[in-house]
Parts: sequence; C-alpha cells; structure tokens
Amino acid sequence: MVIYVSRKETFSASHRLFNKNLSDEENQKIFGKCSNPNGHGHNYVLEVIIQGEPDPSTGYVIDLKLLKTIIRENVINKVDHKNLNLDVDFLKDIIPTTENIAAGIWKQLKDKIPSGRLYSVKLYETEKNFVEYKGE
Ligand code: NI
Repeated sequence: MVIYVSRKETFSASHRLFNKNLSDEENQKIFGKCSNPNGHGHNYVLEVIIQGEPDPSTGYVIDLKLLKTIIRENVINKVDHKNLNLDVDFLKDIIPTTENIAAGIWKQLKDKIPSGRLYSVKLYETEKNFVEYKGE
C-alpha cells in the first residue's frame, strides 16, 4: 500500500530573472518585466509530497509535524523575506526561475526525509503558474 503525504508551506521572496552572461537588451528580450533591475516579489506556495507505506506501529508514512519542521528549517527559513538572487546559499549562481528554485528545494530536502521518500516538489509562483519536480 503506497500513500502520498503532502505538506503545504508559503513564503514571500524577491528575485530578478537575469543571465549575467547576456546583455541588458538580451535579458530584457527574454525575461521582460521579470528582469526589472531592482527585482520584484512573489508569494510562493510550496507543496512537498512524500511517498511511502504507513508504518504499522504508527499508521504514519511520515509524521507531518516532523515534515513541517524539516521543510521550515531547510527551506522556508532560508528563503522567506529574502532576495533569491543574493541571500540563499542553495540558489547561488542560478537564475531563480520557478523551475530552478523547485530543483534547489528538492536537493535541500531529499536526504533529510526520515521515512518514506521525497516524491514531488511543487512550487507555485502565482495562482496560475506552477512547476513540479520529481527528481528526474
Ligand atoms: Ni518573478
């Protein structure tokens, strides 16, 4: 029996989409207003899904209180109210698109899940735009 257990967290952060190897004109052409030199903010919604079998002694795949703490300590505390281009160790030297942030969050979490296994990281940049990464 395989069950998928999910935890949702939110954070607010700013970023600028910008490739330092390209000119300002090229960045403007690719990223448009997302390349605004002084950045802009988003209210991100993060969904983390753990896959596994319930432990016969607890009925849990993973204790959600523990999952909440793991996500907060390894991700939310590092990104909330931060500039994603400058302030976050695990996003250093990447363009902070939703894709790249989701992949960075996956790497932060994948070895820290004590039971079950990390199945999916879903990141909403807006209500309508979101990405999902499954570690492939
Ligand atoms: Ni943006």
